[in-house]
Amino acid sequence: MSRISSQLASYAALLSLCAVACSSPTVPDDSVTFPKGFLWGSATAAFQVEKGNANSDWAAWVETPGKIKNADKPSLNGPDAFAHIDDDIAALKSAGQVMYRFSIEWSRIFPTREDFDANRPNAEALATYKGLLAKLKAAGLKPMVTLQHFTLPVYFADPTKNAEPYGWERPEFPAAFGTFCERMGREYGGLVDYWTTVNEPIVAPLGGYVSGDFPPGLFLAMDRLFTAIKGQAKGHVACYDALHRSDTIDADADGEAVLASVAAHQRTFHPADPENENDVASTERVRYLNNLWFLNAIVRGDWDDDGDMSLEGPNDKKADPAMKGKVDYIGLNYYSDTIIQFQGSVPLFKSLPSRDRLPTGRPRTDLAWDIYPEGFETVLVEAAQYGYPIIVTENGLADATDQNRARFIGEHLLAMGRAMKRGADVRGYLHWSLVDNFEWAEGFCPRFGLYAFDPGTGARTPRGSVATFKKWIDAGRLTKADVDALPPYVSPGAGACVK
Ligand code: BGC
Repeated sequence: MSRISSQLASYAALLSLCAVACSSPTVPDDSVTFPKGFLWGSATAAFQVEKGNANSDWAAWVETPGKIKNADKPSLNGPDAFAHIDDDIAALKSAGQVMYRFSIEWSRIFPTREDFDANRPNAEALATYKGLLAKLKAAGLKPMVTLQHFTLPVYFADPTKNAEPYGWERPEFPAAFGTFCERMGREYGGLVDYWTTVNEPIVAPLGGYVSGDFPPGLFLAMDRLFTAIKGQAKGHVACYDALHRSDTIDADADGEAVLASVAAHQRTFHPADPENENDVASTERVRYLNNLWFLNAIVRGDWDDDGDMSLEGPNDKKADPAMKGKVDYIGLNYYSDTIIQFQGSVPLFKSLPSRDRLPTGRPRTDLAWDIYPEGFETVLVEAAQYGYPIIVTENGLADATDQNRARFIGEHLLAMGRAMKRGADVRGYLHWSLVDNFEWAEGFCPRFGLYAFDPGTGARTPRGSVATFKKWIDAGRLTKADVDALPPYVSPGAGACVK
């Protein structure tokens, strides 16, 4: 056994998380039946669908020339969710869904630092979100509310001052987030069924400190990246505890006043060359940092302070009671697979994922992301090892022409069914997204919506795949034959945003 293979074997033992079992599907997938009460729905996020968010770091970022494809801005040509609450609720209902995940924009509720410090919320914003929640409940829909979806108040995170500690890096920030959560729990607890604290920990910092596509726009700032991710973990815990203190009203009388988690962005990772020890070791390291580091910390209280895949470091902690058990379910986002090719050592990650897509022969979305439903089964089984129910908080694809969406959904639901047969306690599936929206640095080119919108009137129009998805939801069941009967993928997606 080579040094690297024996190291990998000991990592696997250390993590006691499926190294082999997770990746080998063993269950036939000719059909899947979903339990009664399964939570079908879709998701959005405030900055991506609302107009008029002027006080976040992203509001400043979209004004910076060259940062956003086609200089798109949600306030200019977005779906304007605040003005289309009834349309969005009608869209959810006619898609046969029962749950809606959306986010509350911190900087909309507290536009300035003075407002935040004095607990002086913006009355209109507060009332609009309350109206949305009340209408969702009246329509029989279960709200899941995210409290931090990528954007940060500009008074804590100013991209024009990126030499200074930014957002999650600031020592006072996790507690400030906890304060925001406490206020939201008190304000809206009686109307919210599920909370998401932080959307996709790690992902926004990767964009902000490694690739520079997101604010604060830095490249390979690895120490700052890790400081930010640790801040997110502490912020999640502060928020989780705050919600458990402040949200004491059971929104649907099911005996659970508070159900809170993160929405973890889980991926599968494969070495570009399985014979190359550097590729293999880098793959395992990136998988650990992306899929396990954060969940180990907030679920098991295992704090790997230096990110070295062991709990022997001077600041590491095992089963820290202050961090442990800080989820009530696991929110899981899944999109795709990443091929890892060693590109020389960088701190923390040791190596970075390849920036160019490597040829895999798999079908691809409009963003050239591989369509890889097998990975969905793998990450669900991997996450099931933590022992909590799972809600899929995002899964979807960029597909402007809608030629691939129904097959994509069907293949992913079959993969989810296989994971459920292998023991993953999946309680819900939320599609990303309800409506086309602002896709961060990619602007409005990628079309993730089950619904398109008219930029003039805002009117929502269902794409054809909605009817197929609804048929499966209504039946509570789908078969491999149903999916096989759909047209084959067009690849790369015909509305390609990446040539
Ligand atoms: C994010 C969403 C984003 C989606 C598709 C996820 O990483 O949570 O905000 O729109 O991916 O790009």
